Amino acid sequence: MCGIVGYIGNNAVAEELFAGLKNLEYRGYDSAGIALNDNAKIEVFKASGKLANLDAVLQKNHVEKYVSHMGIGHIRWATHGAPTIENAHPHLSNDGNLVLVHNGIIENYKELRQELQNKGVVFHSQTDTEAAVHLFAEEYKKCGSLEEAVRNSLPKLKGAFAFVIMHHNEPDKIIAVRKNAPLIIGSGQDENFVASDIPALLGKVSQIIHLDDDEMAIVQKDKVVVKDIHGHILNKKLEKVDMQADVISKCGYAHFMLKEICEQPAILRKVWQKHIQNQQIVTDDAKIAVNWDKVKKVVIVACGTSLHAAMVAKKVWEEWLHLPVQIEAASEFIYQTNLLDENSLVIGVSQSGETADTITALKLAQKFQAQIMVLTNRIDSSIVRYASSVVPLDAGVEISVAATKSYMAQLAAFYWFGLLMAQKMNKISASDMAEKLQNLMQMPEKIEEILSHQEYIESVAQKLAHHSAVVYMARGFNLPTAYEAALKLKEISYINANAYPAGELKHGPIALLDENMPVLALFEQGQTAAKLLSNCEEAKARHAPVVGIGGRKASDIFDDYIETPEVEACFSPLLMCVPIQLLAYFAAKTLNREIDQPRNLAKSVTVE
Ligand code: G6P
Repeated sequence: MCGIVGYIGNNAVAEELFAGLKNLEYRGYDSAGIALNDNAKIEVFKASGKLANLDAVLQKNHVEKYVSHMGIGHIRWATHGAPTIENAHPHLSNDGNLVLVHNGIIENYKELRQELQNKGVVFHSQTDTEAAVHLFAEEYKKCGSLEEAVRNSLPKLKGAFAFVIMHHNEPDKIIAVRKNAPLIIGSGQDENFVASDIPALLGKVSQIIHLDDDEMAIVQKDKVVVKDIHGHILNKKLEKVDMQADVISKCGYAHFMLKEICEQPAILRKVWQKHIQNQQIVTDDAKIAVNWDKVKKVVIVACGTSLHAAMVAKKVWEEWLHLPVQIEAASEFIYQTNLLDENSLVIGVSQSGETADTITALKLAQKFQAQIMVLTNRIDSSIVRYASSVVPLDAGVEISVAATKSYMAQLAAFYWFGLLMAQKMNKISASDMAEKLQNLMQMPEKIEEILSHQEYIESVAQKLAHHSAVVYMARGFNLPTAYEAALKLKEISYINANAYPAGELKHGPIALLDENMPVLALFEQGQTAAKLLSNCEEAKARHAPVVGIGGRKASDIFDDYIETPEVEACFSPLLMCVPIQLLAYFAAKTLNREIDQPRNLAKSVTVE
């Protein structure tokens, strides 16, 4: 979602800010801006659209002529107000002295706005953020100190925020403060940075400080002081940056998405190596503090692609563990009459660890004394605060907005964790465990085989790209794969794709079928295959082009068939996600879409 950078030091400030924003681009945004604390006054430069537009504004204004040792920058994903220049950050106070960038949502912004307007303050944007600028500026008039003005104003703000703020009269410091939105400080030699996420600082600093909720950092060129909400100095640890600069390189691939799809066999190998040893599942028990005897019910909450991974877990775990598993979209979970108690294990799944809906759901689960675990790709993210057990996904940083390798890593985690549960609950024999582990270990090679058929998959995708809508259908373990396939295609190609349990097609969606509506069927071994084939016949009878994806082709009715290696049905979601990712990728490529940064989407959505 939105991204923040701040810089104080001797380098060209605009360049530093721009480079930081560039590294955050992947999060998805629709306007951008920077502010410099110049000798004469605060200078603000903004543009709607992509960073290239901001670059043009900076060049046109000869940004290099401004003398400044500090500045703040922002990329905005519009929530309150369209992605216009007025609504883009940074936002400036009416006296032109206080400027800030903000991630999150000020929930009571309407009341604040009204209060300030009653005092005669003029507003210039539709954003929630602007209320905070004027609030801080009014407070500054009273106390004459930026730090105090911010501290005094914070209790009036409801919602989630990470603010980075400068005042023209205090040209030696940047103030950074957070609540429910991530913010880090990068510590350098005679220079310091602020950022919403580590990639902004890659190659710049090797040590960072993670700010926690209700903490404020006073960032100067040669020192950083972190204080609590009452102004008491805190002793915060400097942590090593645990991320390589090459994660934000495409390494020769045309898009990050393709690079990340192709990384999947390596990720699986790494995960298996870490968790499968001597025919057993091993894990760092310190991080998994589940009281297994108490687990009578499992609930998994997640959003988007993570939700589809959770749906696979339900199917697999219910078969392996004979334990009811409930899946909820995190945004809906909060409206349920919750039947949670201390015998429930609630698992939150989030690639980014910053998804507001999922975090809110876990906060609710806490109230019911449920045991809470999270699966996340970012063990430094906000979500880990709400869990007693944390499972890292180990997928490496995912840059493409459309999740691919993190989905694979989530599936991998669900498979090994399912076996761990089976082990802990005495629900699996040694021979069954050995056979399942053997299956898992063979997956990377099988995925490599699918990846070697990219050319054929591309030719199928090129045909799909000519249609404005498609239907995915499946039965059994791959129904979640069908949902994920439709989501992936929609996200990056903007083709309207819907997924259905194949048996449901005849109860309504079949009305859509004709020669313009391709139907893609996901086949797996076992009892579902024959019925799914009948559903394909039904589609064919309505002249729909039919594409099959799965093991050996069992009929000639298919217009195209993408063959995948044969595996036991319960493992096939690990394989089947690869062709559907490639189909989406190549369809979007055919349509010349902005694959890594699709319109309107953000990598992590930090608002509910
Ligand atoms: C956004 C992204 C999706 C992602 C979802 C959940 O909507 O665009 O790709 O699946 O958030 O994200 P999370 O980080 O919680 O897995």
